[in-house]
Amino acid sequence: MRSRSAPRRYRPTSSRFILCGVVSAAALLSAACRAQDTTAVSPGAPAPPSITPTGAEGAFRGSVVLGRPTDRSVVANVWSADQAGTVSFLVGTAPGQYSRRTATVALAADTPIELPITDLTPGTRYYYRLQFTGAAVSGPTAERSFRTAPATGGTFRFGLQGDSHPERVRSQFDSVLYVRTLTAAAADSLDFYVMLGDDFSIDILDPATITSAQVRQRYTLQRPYLGIIGAMSPVFLVNGNHEQAARYLLDGTPNNPAVWAQNARNSLYAQPAPDAFYSGNPEQVSHIGLLRNYYAFTWGDALFVMIDPYWGSSVCVDNPFFGGDKRSDLWTVTHGDAQYQWLKRTLEQSTAKYKFVFAHHVMGTGRGGVEVARLYEWGGRSPNGAAEFAARRPTWPVPIHQLFVQNKVSAFFQGHDHIWVRQELDGVVYQSVSEPADPNYSLFNADAYTTGVKFPNSGYTRVTVSPAGAKVEYVRMYRTADETAGRASGTVAYSYVIP
Ligand SMILES: [Fe+2]
Ligand SMILES: [Fe+2]
Repeated sequence: MRSRSAPRRYRPTSSRFILCGVVSAAALLSAACRAQDTTAVSPGAPAPPSITPTGAEGAFRGSVVLGRPTDRSVVANVWSADQAGTVSFLVGTAPGQYSRRTATVALAADTPIELPITDLTPGTRYYYRLQFTGAAVSGPTAERSFRTAPATGGTFRFGLQGDSHPERVRSQFDSVLYVRTLTAAAADSLDFYVMLGDDFSIDILDPATITSAQVRQRYTLQRPYLGIIGAMSPVFLVNGNHEQAARYLLDGTPNNPAVWAQNARNSLYAQPAPDAFYSGNPEQVSHIGLLRNYYAFTWGDALFVMIDPYWGSSVCVDNPFFGGDKRSDLWTVTHGDAQYQWLKRTLEQSTAKYKFVFAHHVMGTGRGGVEVARLYEWGGRSPNGAAEFAARRPTWPVPIHQLFVQNKVSAFFQGHDHIWVRQELDGVVYQSVSEPADPNYSLFNADAYTTGVKFPNSGYTRVTVSPAGAKVEYVRMYRTADETAGRASGTVAYSYVIP
């Protein structure tokens, strides 16, 4: 049975758009518009007439979060807590000039839908508005834009943040600061935005009374925020320990926190599954389907690889949801044979100039960067220094870090420690990223990092990939009341270039 939170994936004939002249909202929805096959406008062809959005801007109170971008498409996840009606996208390659409209589909209250926007041209910026028609109000959203994957040799930017922890109000989360950070990131016109986990913490809920609806609420809570960045920059998610979207919680039924969390995640945020553009986890999990938890893709000159130990391990990786101690022997934690072999293949087969790997944390738990990268299946040694890798992972040729070294991984990005730190090990950058909205600007877990350049919260990390190199910048963000001459939002606190 379809769960309430499963998105209705609208699948139009992929190459069909509605082409119209300048028309009213009613006409936009009428059969007068001809459905015809179309592709991006070819150079030299006469420009098609513009489609004019109608109604009051701001009529739609929901949000659009883009996901699964490719060189020729993007998927828009549309959701409103309380509005129902119809939606379509007006799309064009210049601001205010919309040459095509996607098919119009129904939107029910509190039911996310996925609308693919297809037949796009690689490396091209597209401008769009969502046209909403409801019983009481109708109108377009403000214009937003996104960009399709560029060819090699081009320049692009992506952003990332760690641990937004909206449940830690005042101690590590200020909603106004979060809006400021996401608004600043959106203004950068990033090609996409990576979130490194602990954004949908469900382990604040009572294990004795937890429900599917409570878990889903942790995911809908982020929609107004992620609609700020996600309407511009497709959002890629990486599970953290506090999501508790993890194999150890499966119980063979649809009614457990792992199923609830992963389904809420995948229904409200369009995440990649293996296809012509993405590779990833092919496993079908009962009551979920494809996990969409680990995946890889190439964007311009860079390979992007997201990995996840929480579904790879059959045991709890970090904090047990139903109580108990954290495990001390992390040889029992694993990314799993299938993910390891996929990671190895992905890194070996890529010819990209830059290779970036992302996870919530080395081994999904612990503190530090290069300090823990030498341990367990990541680095091959036990904490006492013993080289146990061959005995503990007899079918793996080398530990994960050595895979990175052999395949010239440029940088590994992680969250979890709530601190911005740049380190390096064997030529691989280990970059921990900050929280986006900590109003106390804390320097958490600094003692766990014995080397490297360290900065406190808050802000986001911006990476510009160009022929000159991959420039990594830490963009600091402050509440207005906390800004001084030396503490201005948008200031780059530190940057470096990976050649
Ligand atoms: Fe965290
Ligand atoms: Fe964490």
